[in-house]
Amino acid sequence: AQTPVKVTVTGAAGQIGYALLFRIASGQLLGADVPVKLSLLEVPQAVKAAEGTAMELDDCAFPLLSGIEITDDPNVAFAGANVALLVGAMPRKAGMERGDLLEANGGIFGPQGKAINDNAADDIRVLVVGNPANTNALIAQQHAPDVPAERFTAMTRLDHNRALSQLAAKLQVPVTEIKKMTIWGNHSATQYPDLFHAEVGGKIAAEQVDEAWLRDTFIPTVAKRGAAIIEARGASSAASAANAAIDHVFDWVNGTEWTSAAIPSDGSYGVPEGLISSFPVASRGGRWEIIQGLEIDAFSRERIDASVRELVEERDAVRALGLI
Ligand code: NAI
Repeated sequence: AQTPVKVTVTGAAGQIGYALLFRIASGQLLGADVPVKLSLLEVPQAVKAAEGTAMELDDCAFPLLSGIEITDDPNVAFAGANVALLVGAMPRKAGMERGDLLEANGGIFGPQGKAINDNAADDIRVLVVGNPANTNALIAQQHAPDVPAERFTAMTRLDHNRALSQLAAKLQVPVTEIKKMTIWGNHSATQYPDLFHAEVGGKIAAEQVDEAWLRDTFIPTVAKRGAAIIEARGASSAASAANAAIDHVFDWVNGTEWTSAAIPSDGSYGVPEGLISSFPVASRGGRWEIIQGLEIDAFSRERIDASVRELVEERDAVRALGLI
């Protein structure tokens, strides 16, 4: 029988964790023929709740689930891990300055990066979901010098899927008709969902909608969807975030011709090398590649640059705090 793939999930007792773990155990993360072993990392006060979730996982009798481990020790959680989903993070609290937020998350993602460096399997792939996701991924990566830098990624797939859904609704087409959607930049309100390369029925999406809708409705709706969900649900997106994490890892492992992911920049499209920024990407042979050669017009350039500028500021802030 195939050796199980070890998948570590941090923040396992949180709401995204609850929506994510069952789908991983059912085979949706890696494929319906790949056995998995789950490792749940939580803070000590939430270990008991994670144990409760593990009881429910047991009660599903998933054929592909070969074991569950629960711990508050990152060195245990990441030992031999092949996939790490870093979901647990420090949320912004009322009155918290950006520096406080970055510092609190540096205290989580620095040690977790080191634990990955020291304990994970050679083929480790890391997806950071916990916000600020791009910069948390950078912090973890910088504490893992022995892991290839490209294995650290951050999630903009939820933004990508939101963009698909908004455009499909506007044009009254199935989402499957839309190709080449791209989210650029930071997973934040400055992100840029790009319709100038997206295609619907083989034609450029931006040419099938009016400019005012694109600028004043589409872009802000996608960028602020997280806040709209909180407003409606009274809690932040969880099932859709878990779904996007599944999509990201599945495509990374199994390949795709085009999606969006925040990966370390090689300098493409004027994004400073090393920043973990969202790009149009393909996945081939288990590696992300930035799709090259797209023409960027002035409208897009301005918006990509603004989001990348924010990422540079976050990187400089964590540098100044000594977190990387
Ligand atoms: P939640 O608050 O329900 O759960 C977070 C869990 O992480 C808690 O159980 C907490 O105990 C745990 N945790 C905190 N510090 C930890 C540590 N050092 N090690 C292990 N576990 C730790 O939050 P939820 O709703 O599950 O969201 C998690 C994160 O995902 C948040 O940062 C949220 O902003 C982010 N998010 C990102 C999205 C994206 O598109 N990138 C979309 C939606 C949410």
